[in-house]
Amino acid sequence: MVKVVILGASGGIGQPLSLLLKLNEKVTDLALYDIVNSPGVAADLSHINTPAKVTGYLPPNDGLKNALTGAHTIIIPAGIPRKPNMTRDDLFKTNAGIVRDLAIGISQHAPNAFILVISNPVNSTVPIVAEVLKKHNVFNPKKLFGVTTLDVVRASTFVGEVTGHDSRDIRVPVVGGHSGITIIPLLSKASPPHSFSQAQIDALTNRIQYGGDEVVKAKEGAGSATLSMAQAGARFANAILNASVKGEAGIIEQSYVHLDADEDGGKQLKPKIDGLDYFSSSVELGINGVTKIHQLEDLTPHEESLLKAAIPELRGNINKGIAFIREDP
Ligand code: NAI
Repeated sequence: MVKVVILGASGGIGQPLSLLLKLNEKVTDLALYDIVNSPGVAADLSHINTPAKVTGYLPPNDGLKNALTGAHTIIIPAGIPRKPNMTRDDLFKTNAGIVRDLAIGISQHAPNAFILVISNPVNSTVPIVAEVLKKHNVFNPKKLFGVTTLDVVRASTFVGEVTGHDSRDIRVPVVGGHSGITIIPLLSKASPPHSFSQAQIDALTNRIQYGGDEVVKAKEGAGSATLSMAQAGARFANAILNASVKGEAGIIEQSYVHLDADEDGGKQLKPKIDGLDYFSSSVELGINGVTKIHQLEDLTPHEESLLKAAIPELRGNINKGIAFIREDP
C-alpha cells in the first residue's frame, strides 16, 4: 500500500501533479483533497488505466481526515499563487493559515507520513508545518521537505541553453531557500563541469533566482508556474518513493529541510550558515527519509557572497513562520 495524498489537488499545480502521480506505478492509492472540485478531478483521473485507485475529498464529512488516513506521502500545493509584482513573501498572509490548518490535520491523522511542501513562501511554510508538528509531539525532521526542485530543474534548462549540453544530463546544485536572493545556484559544481565567464555566471544566477518571475509576467495575472512545478514536484515525490518504497540507495536531491534531519544534527553545516535551522542543501534519501545533509564545500568567492546575502533574508523568513505558530494563542 503506497497512498499518496495531494492537498490542494484541484489547483493549477494540483491537477497536473495528480495526473503525474496517477502515472507513477509505485502509487497504489491517490487521495485528492481540495476545498473545491476534487471529486471531479478524481473521477476524471480514475479512468486512466494505471494501478492507483483515485479518490476525491472535500472538507465536509471528515474529508481531510479520510484523505489523510493511511498516507505514505503527502504533497501540499494548497494556497494562492503570485500575481505580477508580488514576492513570495506577499503570499504569507493567506497561505500561512492554510498550511497551518492542513498541518494540524496531518498531525492528527497521518503523523508518520512524508510531507512535501510546495505552498509558498516555502522558506516560511516549512517552519510553520514543523512548529505545528512539534506542538503535537510528532515532528520528524527526516520526513519534512520544502520542494525546491523547480529551481534545480530551471538551472538544468538554463545552463543547457548556455553550454549546449543536453539539459537532461545537467545537474546544478541549487541551495539556500526558495525565493529571490535565497536561491543560490552553485555553478562551480555543475555536472558536466563547465568553465563559465563571470558575465555568464551573473546572468545565469539572476535567471535561476528570478525564473519564476518570467512565468508570472507571461501569465499576466493568471498565476505562477504550474506545469513545470507539477513536473518538478512529481520528480521529487518519485525520488522519495524510490528511496522509501523501493529501498534504492544513493538518491540525492536538493530540498529545504530542518538541519536536525542530518545524522549529526547539522553540526558541520550550521557554522557555515550562521546557525540557521533550515536550509536547502543536497540531501541523501533513505527508507526513513533524510539520511545525510551534504556540506557546502569549496564554494567560490562569488558563491560565498551569494550565501552571505541569503542568510539574513532566510533568517527573517524562518522566524516569521515560527512566530506565526508560537504566537498563535
Ligand atoms: P491555484 O490557486 O491554482 O491552486 C491552489 C489550490 O489550493 C486551489 O485549488 C484551492 O482551492 C486550493 N486550496 C485553497 N485553500 C485550501 C485549503 N484550505 N485546503 C485545501 N486546498 C485549498 O495555485 P497554484 O498555481 O496551484 O499554486 C499553489 C501554491 O504553490 C502557491 O502558493 C504557489 O505560490 C506555490 N508554488 C510553489 C512553487 C515551488 O517551487 N515550491 C512553484 C510554483 C508555485
